[in-house]
Amino acid sequence: MLFSPYTIRGVTLKNRIVMSPMCMYACDTEDGTVRNWHMIHYPTRAVGQVGLIMIEATAVTPQGRISARDLGIWSDEHIEGLRALTTLVKEQGAKIGIQLAHAGRKATVDGEIIAPSPLPFDENMRTPKEMTKVDIEETIQAFQNGALRAKKAGFDVIEIHAAHGYLINEFLSPLTNKRNDEYGGTFENRYRFLSEVIEAVKEVWDGPLFVRVSAHDYHPDGLTVKDYVEYAKRMKAQGVDLVDVSSGAVVPAAIDAYPGYQVPFAEAIRHGADIATGAVGLITSGRQAEEILRNGRADLIFIGRELLRNPYWPKTAASELGIPLEAPKPYVRGW
Ligand code: FNR
Repeated sequence: MLFSPYTIRGVTLKNRIVMSPMCMYACDTEDGTVRNWHMIHYPTRAVGQVGLIMIEATAVTPQGRISARDLGIWSDEHIEGLRALTTLVKEQGAKIGIQLAHAGRKATVDGEIIAPSPLPFDENMRTPKEMTKVDIEETIQAFQNGALRAKKAGFDVIEIHAAHGYLINEFLSPLTNKRNDEYGGTFENRYRFLSEVIEAVKEVWDGPLFVRVSAHDYHPDGLTVKDYVEYAKRMKAQGVDLVDVSSGAVVPAAIDAYPGYQVPFAEAIRHGADIATGAVGLITSGRQAEEILRNGRADLIFIGRELLRNPYWPKTAASELGIPLEAPKPYVRGW
């Protein structure tokens, strides 16, 4: 199944292998534009036969950057470089997605940082300003503007980053959202910000829409996968196509990571909310990926660090599964 095509909202991926979004911190000019590094790094994985390349967390506002070296999509000036990147990746037969992101209280850039509540992540991080209604409206608008620019830049897929303790995740979790207005308190209220971001993105984007979540807070008072099954039902009702299931990083908490540790979350959401899911986290072999797909635990396999170590990982996985992969063509005689 790993090498079977997968169609989602009219876009067909040639296999089920997705390059997981990974920040490169490579914008040496600090203006968020695509650099040579991105133009080499991502197309290399397309040559390596990845089906879908999800580019790194890309900031919808300068204040929402994880670091000053993040890619950005907060201005029309970002479109040209991103378009050059999507063109290169697509020429090599892969599809390309963009992860739209806002770091919230985890932003490390100069100036004011914002979050649902004025609570720092830990003692080394700054205290964010509590977002006003205007801040909320402007940020939702920034996600919509980012989606429109992503469309103009030629992306096939948009993923909303709602995981890892960044802004949207901070609204979802009761550990980080202590608001008393309609954006905090109840389960529904904590979902409202993500719901409005999804709605705003869908107004300008009719392609495949993924949402990455942290399906477990690893904290006694935090959210667990049971909560995320309920959130995923709402996402499905709003027209989200796939939930990319990660976990943690909402508050400082130790994670016991082992091969496939997040797969049970992807499986629970897939069956509990009847929505396509992506599995991610210490998936490193073709047989492991095949097991996840064949047992109906997820629909797509996101590979992170293994694709940093080996851009030709799909070839390695195919060999392991005994599948002849006659690609990339210019290399075939040499493999
Ligand atoms: C990441 N990860 C990550 N996740 C995300 O949603 N957006 C991002 O921009 C990043 N950035 C990032 C950078 C680097 C260098 C690493 C190693 C990781 C998390 C990543 O997508 C993935 O979920 C984890 O790495 C777990 O999968 P692997 O690496 O075990 O396959």
